[in-house]
Amino acid sequence: MSRKKIVAGNWKMNTSFSEAADLVEQILAYDTDANVTKIFFPPFPYLKNVSDTLAVKTGYYSGAQNCSEYEHGAFTGEVSASMISSVGCKFVLIGHSERRNYFKETNAQLVSKIQQVIKNNLVPVFCVGELLAERKSNNHFETVNHQLKEVLRHFTKEEVNNFILAYEPVWAIGTGETASPLQAQEMHSNIRTCVKELFKEQVASHIPILYGGSCNEKNAAELFSCEDVDGGLIGGASLKADSFCKIINSF
Ligand code: PGA
Repeated sequence: MSRKKIVAGNWKMNTSFSEAADLVEQILAYDTDANVTKIFFPPFPYLKNVSDTLAVKTGYYSGAQNCSEYEHGAFTGEVSASMISSVGCKFVLIGHSERRNYFKETNAQLVSKIQQVIKNNLVPVFCVGELLAERKSNNHFETVNHQLKEVLRHFTKEEVNNFILAYEPVWAIGTGETASPLQAQEMHSNIRTCVKELFKEQVASHIPILYGGSCNEKNAAELFSCEDVDGGLIGGASLKADSFCKIINSF
């Protein structure tokens, strides 16, 4: 079955306000594949500006890199899903490995965050991925399946049908080391099987699964040609308009 093709740029804690505006303008000026959904995840302070700029062109969307697990109130420094929605965003990254590992986000928190995301009609891009030690000890499938099950089991088939998943092996993020197409394909296929076990074939065959981890304009085509890889979640290479647009055009 044909699934949505998606390329998303996770800018992390990079760019100044004017660099962010320039980057978006440069990407919009590029001739990119209209069949690919493009999503930008800029830092919070730039979301409104990026969303407004993207609103003029079809197929381009903005998203937040994180959101609060709470609805509103005395949570200094937090940003709620409703705030994110109110500035024109459509997506929220949930469970990125940097949030899991540096900020110690737990599965229970990820569930609460996704509940907030759904309540505000946003789409979660839910990230999973194993550490180097877990791959070396051959526990990568078990790790990823556990991450999926502990969170997805709290949601209905109808809700999960609207999710996007991202497989990001932690050993490949920002390291220049990429999963081989074989490694990516076998994990994406494993993720799809896990979703099928939890829900139905219809959800599993529909859900887009993105690959992330040192994906760039040189390796994107090979990765995207894998049967179960529906696009990429791009970190470093999303900060250069030329690289990001070449990745978009890699299907
Ligand atoms: P990278 O980051 O492309 O710089 O490896 C990917 C990510 O963390 O989303």
